[in-house]
Amino acid sequence: MATQDDDPSTELGLDAAYALATPDDSRTLYAAWADTYDSGFIEANDYVYHRQIAAVFCRDFEGDTVLDVGCGTGVVGVELCSLGVSVIDGIDISRAMLAKAAEKTQGARKVYRMLVEADLTQTIDIADNTYEGLVSAGTFTHGHLGPDSLHELIRVASPGARAAIGINASHFEDHGFHATLDAMVAAGTIEPYGLVDVPMYGHSDADDPNHMSRVAVFDVC
Ligand SMILES: C[S@@+](CC[C@H](N)C(=O)[O-])C[C@H]1O[C@@H](n2cnc3c(N)ncnc32)[C@H](O)[C@@H]1O
Repeated sequence: MATQDDDPSTELGLDAAYALATPDDSRTLYAAWADTYDSGFIEANDYVYHRQIAAVFCRDFEGDTVLDVGCGTGVVGVELCSLGVSVIDGIDISRAMLAKAAEKTQGARKVYRMLVEADLTQTIDIADNTYEGLVSAGTFTHGHLGPDSLHELIRVASPGARAAIGINASHFEDHGFHATLDAMVAAGTIEPYGLVDVPMYGHSDADDPNHMSRVAVFDVC
């Protein structure tokens, strides 16, 4: 996968992202990557994950307010907007990535109503039952978020909310996402979930779990 050399002090790209160990590492990497993420990663690698996740999410979504989890520069929000989602907020640990998301527009409309800087491994400053939809691409992956972060997201979703949470397929197996999702179903926190496998890249090899996302699709109880 491409590595960019614009900033000689910080190696940019997927290998660096997958090697992150702490939230502070994420802040540092994405601060350096924000300016070139859309051109140097999304376009250069024929990233299609944002379109795939938005399509899966919108298939049965009938609400208004959606939280884009780990929104980065806002490419998922752009897709949601073009599919007719009316209110999109974004949350991310990186102030630099959020600044890029704030620039995204569709016509005269800003794609995001509100952008929240927060570490999703911690409690976030959003009230219970706020969102009718949760969507995420590229954030539940190596070096980023594990299954524990799902609990806090479910807290801010309203009863009946629809979620489409994309999880790197290799990370899904390594970190037992099945067990966490099953436990949430057993606890009555979420309805039984489906898994939709989508490619992350136009050239994705379906047999490579780092090219594929398992999208957990469920309704919140
Ligand atoms: C690979 S990018 C994906 C961005 C966007 N969703 C996309 O599809 O292009 C991962 C994002 O997760 C964010 N992130 C990493 N760790 C985080 C954490 N602990 N809390 C919140 N966001 C985090 C990063 O800042 C980055 O914007």
